[in-house]
Amino acid sequence: MLDGKRILLIVAGGIAAYKTLELTRRLVERGAAVRCVLTAAGAEFVTPFALSALSGDKVYRELFSLTDEHEMGHIQLSRDADLVVVAPATADILAKMAAGLAGDLATTLLLATDKDVLAAPAMNVRMWEHAATRANLATLRERGIGIVGPEEGPMACGEHGWGRMAEPAAILAAIETWFAASGRLGGRSALVTSGPTWEAVDPVRYIGNRSSGKQGHAIAAALARAGARTRLVTGPTHEPDPAGVEIVRVESAREMLKACRAALPSDVAVFAAAVADWRPARKAGHKIKKSSGAPGAIELVENPDVLASVAAAGNLRPALVVGFAAETDDILGNARKKLDRKGCDWILANDVSPGTEVFGGDENSIRMVSGDGVEDWPRLSKEAVAGRLAGRIADWFEARGEAAE
Ligand code: CTP
Repeated sequence: MLDGKRILLIVAGGIAAYKTLELTRRLVERGAAVRCVLTAAGAEFVTPFALSALSGDKVYRELFSLTDEHEMGHIQLSRDADLVVVAPATADILAKMAAGLAGDLATTLLLATDKDVLAAPAMNVRMWEHAATRANLATLRERGIGIVGPEEGPMACGEHGWGRMAEPAAILAAIETWFAASGRLGGRSALVTSGPTWEAVDPVRYIGNRSSGKQGHAIAAALARAGARTRLVTGPTHEPDPAGVEIVRVESAREMLKACRAALPSDVAVFAAAVADWRPARKAGHKIKKSSGAPGAIELVENPDVLASVAAAGNLRPALVVGFAAETDDILGNARKKLDRKGCDWILANDVSPGTEVFGGDENSIRMVSGDGVEDWPRLSKEAVAGRLAGRIADWFEARGEAAE
């Protein structure tokens, strides 16, 4: 799958650099041409000799190396790849990327490249949770940089928490899904819904749910990366805007439906939003005061089904309609029923039972249900699910053999 793909692998200074050796080996096994760049701090953890032996190529280390510049200028090096991967991506290199610093070879390449960049963060849990790192990450995501991991677990420093670099297999899966759809949806248009909806009780209160919008936003980013003109209709989330995507912000289910209808025609539509099934029958025009006593029951009425409505839009129906199913029991049975009831082509069924930490978490366990049967996907990061779905969508259009407009 990675045959002939050129990967520029930037190895920064973290203990997780040892896993990058394994990643390099696996990439080479799959036919990729890996060229490594090692930062000064990275060289404290792995040797250039080991990286060179595994990649079968020389390792680049210095910005002001006359020999390297003579062989290949650093700008050329930054362009001469299909994908740039930063692993481990330390707090330091992420901060430099966000700020646009270019004080050494690695950061200069990252600033000069015109290629996609995928980063695998690795750092101590406190550093990962620090507001500075959170802000840098949001900036990088907004610019379209892919992030894989980190994972939770014991750390080399003796602490426990989020910050361990994703395992080589997970990084490899993210790289493969990145290539799976790349450019293959050029000329297509896509509509994606994401996030929760808020249903107003009064001007300050609403009924909502815990959806983070991570999955829907990642799908919009992946479809845009694959070349589709993508419109994202999103309920309120804290997720950064994905790069290259047109965003329409809404609050309620009815607003979401209106925005989706306005987005038609679209070649493909993916409904990842957790739309509230019901809304208060009446919205109070003013804040309900405590002094007026507990309101007792709030009467609810059913919301429109955005997915079902778009799937039944006659000649405006997208050629491919994909829904999600959040289930806690009889996942397959319920997903099949939803497929029929909502008139969609694929359902990505998601186990959200307590303990799975799917809602608001970083990973999904997907069973893809279609008229052709069921396909179980391994537990993947939401980014990797998005990449895989974009790849499947590209396969589907290619199998139909119709050229994009
Ligand atoms: N959906 C939608 N509009 C709604 C409800 C759901 O577009 N009013 C979409 C979701 O975005 C998702 C799919 O329908 O793609 C299934 O959502 P889910 O919450 O699993 O299904 P429900 O219809 O709410 O069914 P139930 O509550 O019985 O599980």
